[in-house]
Parts: sequence; C-alpha cells; structure tokens
Amino acid sequence: MKKVFLEAGILCVLVAGFLLTACHSDDEDSWKIGIALSDYNTIERWAIDGANMKTMLEHYGFTVDLQHVERDVNEQISQIESMITAGCKVIIVTAVDGTQLDAALTKAANAGIKVIAYDRLLMNTSAVDYYVTFNNTMVGTQQGQYIVDHLSDSATPQNMELFTGPADDNNVNFYFNGALAALNIGDNLDVPSGEMTMAACGIANWSTSVAKTRMARLINAQGYAPAGKKLDAVLCSNDALAEGVVAALTEAGYTAADFPIITGQDAEISAVKRIIAGTQSMTVFKDTRLSAEAAVNVVRAIKDGTEGSLSFGAPYNNDVKEVKTISCETTVVDKDNYRKVLIDSGYYTEVELQ
Ligand code: BGC
Repeated sequence: MKKVFLEAGILCVLVAGFLLTACHSDDEDSWKIGIALSDYNTIERWAIDGANMKTMLEHYGFTVDLQHVERDVNEQISQIESMITAGCKVIIVTAVDGTQLDAALTKAANAGIKVIAYDRLLMNTSAVDYYVTFNNTMVGTQQGQYIVDHLSDSATPQNMELFTGPADDNNVNFYFNGALAALNIGDNLDVPSGEMTMAACGIANWSTSVAKTRMARLINAQGYAPAGKKLDAVLCSNDALAEGVVAALTEAGYTAADFPIITGQDAEISAVKRIIAGTQSMTVFKDTRLSAEAAVNVVRAIKDGTEGSLSFGAPYNNDVKEVKTISCETTVVDKDNYRKVLIDSGYYTEVELQ
C-alpha cells in the first residue's frame, strides 16, 4: 500500500513537473517582443530588417508586435507605450530621434522590460540594455576611402561635395566624421561650395527629394557641368541621398560616362541597379541578416537567462552609460563584387537586380 502511495506520489510529482514545464515553456514561448522601427516606408532596408527579425523570432516561438513610423517621434512614443501595455518582454527600437525616448523607455524599464537599441543608439537614457548595430564609423571610412582610392588624378585639385543625414540620427556623427577623417580634405581635394559641416550637409529626414534639390542648387551655384567645371566626387552617406544626387546630375545632362564618384550605403536594390548602370560608384552593404540574428540572439539570451554568455565588442557611450554593443561588419560593394556579395550570398536574386 505504502509503495502504491509512493508510486502515485512520484507520478503526481512527475505529472506536476511535466505540467509546470509545459506551462512554463508555453509561457516563455508566448513571450511578446516589440519591434519599433523608423523610416519604414521610405528607406528600403527597414522592411527587410523588420521581416528578418520577425521571421527569426517567430521561428523561436516568440510573438512579434512590429510597429513602424516614418519620422514622427510622438507616434513612435505611442507605439512604444502600446508595446508596454501589451506586455512585451523585450522592445527593440530603431529611434526616429534617439534623444527623445527617455521617458517612454524609462516606463518600459520600470515595467521590467529589456530594451535593445537597433542600428541607432538610444541616447541620454539609462533605460537601454543592449545595442546591436554595424560599425558606423567604418561605414564613413569605407565611403571616404573609396573616393580617395578612385579619384582619377590625385595630383591636381579634385572637386567634391558632401551629403549626409540629419543630426537627429545619431549614426550620422559616425558616418560623417568617419568619412571626413578618411577624405582628409586639403590641397588636392576641395569642397568648392564650402559646405562642409554636418549642419550644412545634413539632409532632413534622409530625403531623396531634398538631396536632389540641394544638388541642383550646387550644380547651378558652382557651374558644375559634364563639359564644364568638373565635379569629381559626391560623398553620400546613404543610397537615398545618392538617388537624389544622381537624379539632379542626370537632369543637368550628366551621363554614366561623366558621372562623379558617388558613394552610398544600404545596398538598396535601386542603388545596385545604379551601380550596374554606372551612375553610382559604390554602396556600403550592411547585411541585415547578421544584425537581425544578433538582436534575436540577445532576445533569446534574455528569455533563457543566459545574458552572461553573450559576447560584445567595444561599448558605445550614450551620454549616460556605456551600452553593451554587438557591432556587425560592413562590406564595400561596387560593380566588381556585387554579384559575389549580394547574389551569391542569397541576399538578392539576379532577377531583382535587373
Ligand atoms: C541607418 C542607415 C539608413 C538611414 C536612413 C541610418 O540610421 O544606419 O542604414 O540608410 O538611417 O534610414
């Protein structure tokens, strides 16, 4: 009799243990993760970032609350607040303006939610736990170095103009300063417009049309022309800006044969097409599969309580704290290697680039 009770007891413990495990893992599997992205409809990469993270998170059994805005800080704040209310356990944020989210993120932290800054650092807040990004200074270095390496004649002064992103995007500091350091503007490399500060060269909202308007103004003011004053290079911090610059040059009569060196970033499909056509020289490819995977690994570690086993590179300082950072590497893509880097790796198909 005693044995029967004992066996029944063990069975109960086993069943209870099983149920507990089952419930526990159900609970864990249904963890909701918020993803708040910016520039979603205007800059191609963000929909890819979003889709990559969502697919991977769902693969691991998470529920995903993916929300996005264009450049509206207040809308992003309400989206983050709705994620807090909805019980998200982790929120991944690409900020419209990383300096404006402290109050919303503090609410998240107070609710025990972990926050991952994605691509853009969240500034002036202690309520950020991790930062997953690319080496942003390297993006600028690669663009600047590409110009230096491809200028036709380094002995005579070369004319260059500069385009970068808006100051509310914290990454712009890294892109622009990385590029300027590599370009080493001086005797042989001139910026005829004299517009060289981030304020003068920063295009609001990373807008293609604003970049186009500014390039048209510079063409008129400086007298740049295919058969006139030579424009040797245009630094563009991303592909959206390059698109506007190329459009202005095309309207001014430039053809692929007389285009200056033009840089970009993101390896957008339209940018790769311009590279193939010879109107854009290069783009810096940020493989969003890598950054999405890195962010998802951080989420999984948070869920599993194994954050201690994550490895990080150099931390980024957000003016309040050193934020643990995973920084992915970037690759220069031009007409010589786009097939290998983008098609052979499965990022794009041949047909998408036609
Ligand atoms: C990102 C770039 C992107 C730009 C515009 C930056 O913060 O790092 O990849 O082109 O925002 O969305």
